[in-house]
Order: sequence, then C-alpha cells, then structure tokens
Amino acid sequence: TAIEKGGYDHFMLKEIFEQPQTIFDSLRGRLDAKNGQLTLGGIRDEYADLLKNANRIIIVACGTSWHAGLIAEYMIEELCRTPVEVEYASEFRYRNPVVGKGDVIIAVSQSGETADTLVAIESAKQQGAIILGVCNVVGSSIARLSHAGAYTHAGPEIGVASTKAFTAQLVVLCLIGLKVAKEKGTITQQRFQHLLDELQDIPEKVATALKLNEAVKAVAAKYKDARDFLYLGRGYNFPVALEGALKLKEISYIHAEGYPAAEMKHGPIALVDENLPVVFVATRDSYYEKIVSNIQEIKARKGKVIAIVTEGDTTISELADDVIEVPAADELVAPVISTIPLQLLAYHIGVLKGYDVDKPRNLAKSVTVE
Ligand code: G6P
Repeated sequence: TAIEKGGYDHFMLKEIFEQPQTIFDSLRGRLDAKNGQLTLGGIRDEYADLLKNANRIIIVACGTSWHAGLIAEYMIEELCRTPVEVEYASEFRYRNPVVGKGDVIIAVSQSGETADTLVAIESAKQQGAIILGVCNVVGSSIARLSHAGAYTHAGPEIGVASTKAFTAQLVVLCLIGLKVAKEKGTITQQRFQHLLDELQDIPEKVATALKLNEAVKAVAAKYKDARDFLYLGRGYNFPVALEGALKLKEISYIHAEGYPAAEMKHGPIALVDENLPVVFVATRDSYYEKIVSNIQEIKARKGKVIAIVTEGDTTISELADDVIEVPAADELVAPVISTIPLQLLAYHIGVLKGYDVDKPRNLAKSVTVE
C-alpha cells in the first residue's frame, strides 16, 4: 500500500493533494471558459428543462455531502432564483415530506450507496419527483436510481473522511447552478463568463493553497491539545466551517462545533475563554466587515483566533493569533479553496495525536445500513 499511497503517509493526505487534478477532472469536457461554454452531458433535453422549470430543488445527502449541498443552496438560490432546500436524507425519508411533481431532487453522494440517501430518493421518485444524482462512483445504486445526473469524477476515495469528493461536489453543483441560471436567464452574461473563468482557475488556486501544508502543520502542533474547537463562517463560508469542524471530529476525536459566525452570540460564545481555539473562515467576500467584528467579539473574550483569510489581508492579521492566507476567489467558488487548509488542519492534528486518520474509529466509508 506504500505504492498505492503514492509516497504519502496516508490516503487522506494523498487525496487532499490530488485535488488540483480531481477538480480539473470534474471540469473536463464540461467547462470551456475560453468560448463561454458549459455542457453537462448527463443532464440534457427533458431533464434540463425539468430542472430549469423546477418549482423547487431539494438537495438530499448525509455527512460531508450534506455540507456540499448547503453550499449549493447558497449558490443555486443566488444564481437561479429557484428555492432550494437541503435535507438530511435520514430525516427526509421518515418525516413524510411534501414532495412530488415539479420538485427536482439532487441526491449528493460520494459512494452512491448511502442507505438513507438511497431510500429517500426512492420514495420521492415514487411520488413523482425528478431525481438527479451527483455521485462519485460510476454505476452506483444512487446513480442508477436517478433519472439523470452529473458524476463528480474525483476518482476512488479511500480515506474515510471525505476530502477530494467534497471539492468535486462543490464544483459540479456550481456547474449545475450556472447551467440553470444561464437557461433561466437569471444571470448576466458578464457574471456567467466571470464565474466560468473563476472555475477554470480553481485547480491552480487549490495547488497554491496546498503549499500552506507546512504552515498549517505548525498551527496544528500549537493547538492539538485543545479540548474543543469552534469553527465560524458566514455566507458561503458557513458550511465550510461546518465541514471543517466535522473533519476535525472525524479524525482527531476533538469535539468541534461549526456555527454561523453571527449566530455564535446565541450560545457558543458562552464557551469562549483563553483555551478555546476558534477557526474563522474569513476570506474577502460580501460578509467581510461583519466577520471582522465577529473576530473582535471572540478576541474581547480572550479566545484564540485562527483565521483563514484572503492573501494580503492586513486587517485580520492584526486581530488573529494565527493567519492562513489563501488565494482570492469569487465568493461563490471560494469554499473550494478555503476548505483546503481545514482539511490539512484536521489531518495534521489527527496524525500528531497518533490516530489512524485513514480509518477513524466507529466510522465507515460508506454507510449502507440505516
Ligand atoms: C459516511 C462517510 C462520510 C460521508 C457520508 C456520506 O459517514 O464517512 O465521509 O460524507 O458517509 O457518504 P456519501 O457516500 O453518501 O457521500
């Protein structure tokens, strides 16, 4: 397996480092930024029309895939003006949801075998909903049950904690949103072209973010003995905070909570003291000024702030205890980049604590039982 790991100590690290390539693979044959074109061969003709005319899009998923769904909610509502709901598959399947004709369900699943997601879409399909699959494993159960869809093409993911599948999901969900927006006419040509260009640049920016590995490792060493972590973000970066916290829990067994940065004052702020590391996902976007004041709120209570910021940020550098700078990107695609240092942070803390990061205790790669 040393060979399979391609020289990396763990599959997780290998898969984190594969992301410039896997994201490129997710875009390949679909994005032609130079000519302003976007094609999704798996969502065509009648399914493209049904998606465009959907009354509502419901995203159903579990775990990390559910976090990708949350980011997609922000993207699709902004781009397409179609109402989006994001559901935990395990809740959706049991609560007798109102679903039927006119609803398009997007099932997001790396494995395509997660039992809760599979059953959730089976019953929605029987009730007349259209199912689109966003799966990584070709020919998987969820992919086969779907009417149409788009594969993520991230290649086999071995590490139990999902990394490259997540960023591939974000990219593919963004392509879906852009396609619908273009067809619905809810996006200007200029914004459409700008986002195609931004997508095109992602692999390179992710490669740049991966150069932070050693810096992130140093931050990991500094905070690895913390008992709890708080992860905060706003807007597109709020689900990134949730995913950062989940990664840390999964492989380092440190209790971590992700929260919308502003909602923090309705509870988690009570936990803040000089022993609590608070990770802010605070890249430059339309929420920037707001999150700066959230950082000040944490510092006023002596919390330790680790901030993921945009390159060249000087305001937050002065406030935070530790700063990790990532390349600038449009806020709609920024999660693909801001998530990279959080994957690395979880990885290094897990490794420093001596845990088997590829096979964390109690977790399964694919949960095929309910
Ligand atoms: C398990 C895995 C997670 C994954 C979740 C959903 O809990 O450990 O990494 O996010 O299942 O899996 P799926 O294959 O449906 O994306």
